Amino acid sequence: MTDQDKNEMIVTPWEVRGKVDYERLIREFGTEPLTDDLLKRLAKHTGELDLQLRRGLFFSHRDLGAVLDLYEKGTKFVLYTGRGPSGPVHIGHLVPWIFTKHLQDKFDTRLYFQMTDDEKFVIDDEAKLQDTTRFGYENALDLIALGFKPENTFIIYDVHDIDLLYDIALEVAKRITYSTARSTFGFQDSTNLGWVFWPAVQAVPCFIHKKLTGENVPALIPAAIDQDPYWRITRDIAQKLGYYKPAQIHCRFLPGLGEGGKMSAHEPETSIFTTDPPDVVKRKVWNAFTGGKGTAAEQKRTGAEPNVCSVFQYFLYLFEENDEKLSERERKCRSGEILCGECKKDLTDRLNKFLAEHQKKREKARSTLDKFHIKR
Ligand code: TYM
Repeated sequence: MTDQDKNEMIVTPWEVRGKVDYERLIREFGTEPLTDDLLKRLAKHTGELDLQLRRGLFFSHRDLGAVLDLYEKGTKFVLYTGRGPSGPVHIGHLVPWIFTKHLQDKFDTRLYFQMTDDEKFVIDDEAKLQDTTRFGYENALDLIALGFKPENTFIIYDVHDIDLLYDIALEVAKRITYSTARSTFGFQDSTNLGWVFWPAVQAVPCFIHKKLTGENVPALIPAAIDQDPYWRITRDIAQKLGYYKPAQIHCRFLPGLGEGGKMSAHEPETSIFTTDPPDVVKRKVWNAFTGGKGTAAEQKRTGAEPNVCSVFQYFLYLFEENDEKLSERERKCRSGEILCGECKKDLTDRLNKFLAEHQKKREKARSTLDKFHIKR
């Protein structure tokens, strides 16, 4: 692969590669930028803006304004997000989930959460269904550990709960042509049939609230922008089926600890999994790409560049809530007052403190899994 190929931007639900140009994605996917006006409208309901909105980590949307219009006139919305359980959860996955929890708390809304053990089975030749199903229950522990409210949170395990989903999946599938699906997802002659049908299943939780409660309300989907192709095809057919078009709010990708790219479970040495023990976290952070200078003396003299540093991104996304402290770290990095070793040590401490708490809550969640299952 040439350097040009490596840098070429690919963003699909199954692959994110190269340098991600978010403005280009807004143009190519046809989404809308999250404007200051919309942020102000959100803040009217949420109070002070959440870190992820303040820092532009959520940057794009579809129909957020329409959802707020309805909400302000008395029609609530439901939240919908999910996980493809191909292995353990990494902290990149937590980024949209933490924001979803914030929305659940502020708007007091239901969350439908889809665990797509079927998707991860059909798209990977090597995957075994029993493994993706098992990971589904394990990954649910991470979601629950973030503090979602059981009375408002409904986890759907696709394979187990397919009887609940199947009628709506059929209605959706019948209205999407193969030609649309192929151009949206890039299907090839070699793509298996399970994969071709599968996007109809990811559409279902956008609409399931009506089946369960009789109420027709829109769904708002917080997720990274890689999931957007699913919503394009779902939005096309929603109104034909008598539902609102699902709305989205899209976040950027938390990068891996390497140079560029998103955190991805396919690259375990540059990903922090929620189950990683402290020594593993220390090793991974110690090996992280920072773009620092060749010697300490040079860096003290010329400073470094936080924008290219993977370690800085973790403070920005998750591990420095105080904006002033974040700016101070940035300034010190640029001026050479702080060296990469110090930032790596601080991040290791922050990560290990967070993970120790998270791992405790995760274990506790085992006894409450049933309370969150949609079929309780
Ligand atoms: P999955 O398991 O690939 O990803 C789960 C969620 O995490 C987001 N994500 C990230 N966010 C920030 N930084 C990263 N590095 C990063 N990597 C992944 C994804 O955008 C996603 O929100 N098909 C889906 C499962 C699914 C779903 C949904 C996701 C079913 N219904 C509705 C979102 C909304 C999947 O495999 O996600």
